Amino acid sequence: MKAIVCTRYGPPDVLRLGEVEKPVPGANEVLIRIHATTVTAGDCEMRALKFPLWLSIPMRFYNGLVRPSRIKIIGQELAGEVAAVGKNVTAFRPGAAVFGTTGFNMGAYAEYITLPEKGGEMDGALAHKPVSLTYAEAAAAPLGGLEALHFLRLADLHNGEKILIIGAGGSIGTMAVQLARYFGAVVTGVDRGEKMDLLGAIGAERAIDFTLEDFSREGEQYDVVFDVVGKASFARCMRSLKPGGRYVLANPSLADMLRGAWASRTGDKKVIFGAAKQRAEDLVLIKELIEGGKLKPVVDRSYLLEQAVEAHRYVESGNKKGNVVIAVAASG
Ligand SMILES: NC(=O)c1ccc[n+]([C@@H]2O[C@H](COP(=O)([O-])OP(=O)(O)OC[C@H]3O[C@@H](n4cnc5c(N)ncnc54)[C@H](OP(=O)(O)O)[C@@H]3O)[C@@H](O)[C@H]2O)c1
Repeated sequence: MKAIVCTRYGPPDVLRLGEVEKPVPGANEVLIRIHATTVTAGDCEMRALKFPLWLSIPMRFYNGLVRPSRIKIIGQELAGEVAAVGKNVTAFRPGAAVFGTTGFNMGAYAEYITLPEKGGEMDGALAHKPVSLTYAEAAAAPLGGLEALHFLRLADLHNGEKILIIGAGGSIGTMAVQLARYFGAVVTGVDRGEKMDLLGAIGAERAIDFTLEDFSREGEQYDVVFDVVGKASFARCMRSLKPGGRYVLANPSLADMLRGAWASRTGDKKVIFGAAKQRAEDLVLIKELIEGGKLKPVVDRSYLLEQAVEAHRYVESGNKKGNVVIAVAASG
């Protein structure tokens, strides 16, 4: 089968189209013919092995010191059609349209993938595709949706509360804005100027361009600050919280985690971070919210599998709004 193989750690052109062996499903696995996948910030970070220090050293030991040896095919989310199932699989039948995440092993930049029927927190999550979405749209929903849901739940967001979402125009952020609205919160989104209209269109009450304004200098205070991207300083985020507020970090540095643990112990503001859990039941909830018109993945551009290098360059350009899709099959 065709796949995009990551030949070494580095810039987008380390990605090469190649032929690899088609996987065979085990007894508890589903073989999926992938129609569409996405290029996420996480894919680019994995390709370049560009992580905070506390993560990059263990990742290099896990995945190969000089070049990728375990995870050669990246890509963390997909939509496609079940091609075959293992003998113990009961929830999916051949021909079913599905969407999901791959978990830690990645592998979605390929024509086929096997995923466990039931998944697991590190093995991804699989569910039937929302009927209202194309494969391309559906591929852009699972990762951002699951991450946003996980962190907003940790934030314990209530009806009527005010939330500031930093990095609101990206993959996780566009889902977080819509989910926060669904939970009844009043949303302010922070991102680059080009994404201000988008933030309004998906439900943000206010949008702040971080290149022009400092959200922490305007005196507004929030019940929750959700920093998706990890580029706003700890002090600015804490300053923007009401007493008793919650500060949630999806992409914390080691210093943020240490300061956060101390601040949570000694003050009345809570600092929350950690890796998101990907659960099939949450993906079913996301499917239902999409079908109920409460949530819609934002797709910016679509590329062909052969254009993975260009797709990565675009994602790293800073112009991406929401998600970038890779069409693997003609319908993707
Ligand atoms: N903890 C976890 O479990 C977990 C899980 C998945 C992902 N992550 C991490 O979370 C991060 C975000 O993921 P994502 O997929 O949502 O990324 P994304 O799609 O690139 O979205 C990030 C958004 O933040 C914007 N941004 C950049 N600098 C900013 C700043 N200083 N202030 C406000 N907005 C800013 C980006 O704009 P430009 O593109 O224009 O710069 C982009 O729109 C990634 O680093 C990813 O690895 C963590």
